[in-house]
Amino acid sequence: MPDDELRILFVADVVGHPGRDAVKSILPNLKKEVRAHLAIVNGENAAGGFGLTGKIAAELKGAGADVITTGNHVFAQKEFVPELPGLERVLRPANYPPGAPGQGSCVVEASGREVLVMNLMGRIFTAENLDDPFRAADAILAAHPDSKIVFCDMHAETTSEKTAMGWYLDGRASAVVGTHTHIPTADARVLTKGTAYVTDVGMVGPRDGCIGMDKDIVVQRFLTAMPSRFAVAPGPVTFNSVLVTINGSTGRATSIQRIDREHV
Ligand SMILES: [Fe+2]
Repeated sequence: MPDDELRILFVADVVGHPGRDAVKSILPNLKKEVRAHLAIVNGENAAGGFGLTGKIAAELKGAGADVITTGNHVFAQKEFVPELPGLERVLRPANYPPGAPGQGSCVVEASGREVLVMNLMGRIFTAENLDDPFRAADAILAAHPDSKIVFCDMHAETTSEKTAMGWYLDGRASAVVGTHTHIPTADARVLTKGTAYVTDVGMVGPRDGCIGMDKDIVVQRFLTAMPSRFAVAPGPVTFNSVLVTINGSTGRATSIQRIDREHV
């Protein structure tokens, strides 16, 4: 039944000014084109490649981001630490230990239905001092027993940790999408119990860089092992996203489809 269908567009990690420009140029029309009821954008690299600010969060919301998720760089910009608690629908990973500012989940309305959005972060090669993301997901689901439509951004480095989270939440979340590596994976599918899953959505960032950063600086660091300051790469921007279609009555996903664009 088409009226029962909920469409959620998820836009991958926005990298710096070029990424923000691409979001502003592409997202408003794309939301209309795919008739998305909700757009979730990962903004954790939106401020110069590292972190987010309240001003930039407002910029992304102005372009159509209904919810902003983050990850390991969420507190990279010092000003954001006191700003985050005052920002609605801007999440940091839910498995930050107690005492960290901000929230890891929120409930938003889309097409007359409630959508629970949660942001989790893997620990392998990223932040070993975070709490367990699997148990954090359980706690959020237990706190929202009536939430049928659940969307999860699992921000993590390793494919195994993200795949494990997909299976762990299969049948309990409508979608689990991976972020952080900035490299899109070709495994978007609906898992056996109805959870849409992809290991990594990719990024909205410079195509001719090294995961969004200036390639010459990154290559030089690998060659010399000398410390250097990364900078966002120039040039055309890759825009990676996925559109998840969900049965509004059951909360189960019916499809997940990659939508990839370029912004020159
Ligand atoms: Fe990240």
